[in-house]
Amino acid sequence: MDRRRSRTAVLGLGLALAAGLAVAAAPQIGPPLKGLRWLAPGADPVARLTRAPTECLTLPAAPAARLSVEIGRAAFRTPVVLGGQAARSGVACETCHQSGRTNPEFHFPGVSGPPGTADVTSSLFSTHRDNGVFDPRPIPDLSGPKARLKISQAPGDPALAAFIQGLVTQEFDGPQPPPAVLQGLADYVRALSPEACPAQADRPVDVAGLMEDARRAATAAQALADAGDRPAALVMIAGARARLGLIDERFAAPDLARQRRALMAADRRLATIAETLRGNAPPPLTALAAWRRDSLRLEADLTRQSGRSLFDPPHLAATLQVRLPRQAS
Ligand code: HEC
Repeated sequence: MDRRRSRTAVLGLGLALAAGLAVAAAPQIGPPLKGLRWLAPGADPVARLTRAPTECLTLPAAPAARLSVEIGRAAFRTPVVLGGQAARSGVACETCHQSGRTNPEFHFPGVSGPPGTADVTSSLFSTHRDNGVFDPRPIPDLSGPKARLKISQAPGDPALAAFIQGLVTQEFDGPQPPPAVLQGLADYVRALSPEACPAQADRPVDVAGLMEDARRAATAAQALADAGDRPAALVMIAGARARLGLIDERFAAPDLARQRRALMAADRRLATIAETLRGNAPPPLTALAAWRRDSLRLEADLTRQSGRSLFDPPHLAATLQVRLPRQAS
């Protein structure tokens, strides 16, 4: 029997989950939010799922360098970049390196030892690199001092891109990333630094933040499509759709069906743009811009209703049937 398949079944990571919004109408399987799957036992799920660390990013001023960092930023948040089992589970770079930092409460059965560790040579994620040894390591803080990191991030040193390529294709079994995506990931990691960390260590997880991520991914997709780089543009569109998926799972309540339908419609528009990019037709020059513009209206409506969604700590607590220690303001 296929060992990976049997492990998959044990972990209950349904293949269908990878399809994100496509399964929105299917009966709920698994936990209500994907993030619960890699949350350490004993961690406070409401606090961990409604707040996230802030990002320590410096965007370069030069347009080409800035675009590369934006491409990397979106790819870092896109599960399909990792491919294989990780993508099917909804795991992206940001799952372990939350907001480009670390994740002290990451715990994935079969991959982690103590919370905050992962064995990236685990056969669960890879057929290539199973070294037969369960060897979980602490997840490094990519926004910490560069001197504490192992891989050189010196500009022009190919080591970082080579490391990320190995991570994706060997350790996670992902497809070879398009060159602009690989370069972008390296440039994004380089652009993270402790000096860029905002005074506020964390922020709420909300519709506005996820929609803004989706729009930034769509903007990068547009620039790549304009430059004729369709494979990389497709990764960006997948990134935008993954963000919509994270909003969708918080709007599962029956009284939010209208908002959910609007989200699905926004997702279908992106799927159609991706189809066009996969075909021979000229890339859509205005469709992504129109999508971005319309997303503002969608965002406003979703934000108005988000007090009834799982973005709202008391609603999330009630769904998970946990007690809030203190009602979050
Ligand atoms: C399952 C958790 C996990 C995921 C997903 C993950 N990483 Fe990591 N990452 C780790 C761990 C653990 C290490 C430390 C490995 C070691 O020490 O051997 C690491 C190390 C790194 C390093 C080297 C840091 C140093 O010390 O120089 C970089 C860069 C990095 N990851 C970037 C990424 C990128 C980019 C992605 C997505 C393509 C990604 N990671 C996805 C867990 C993860």
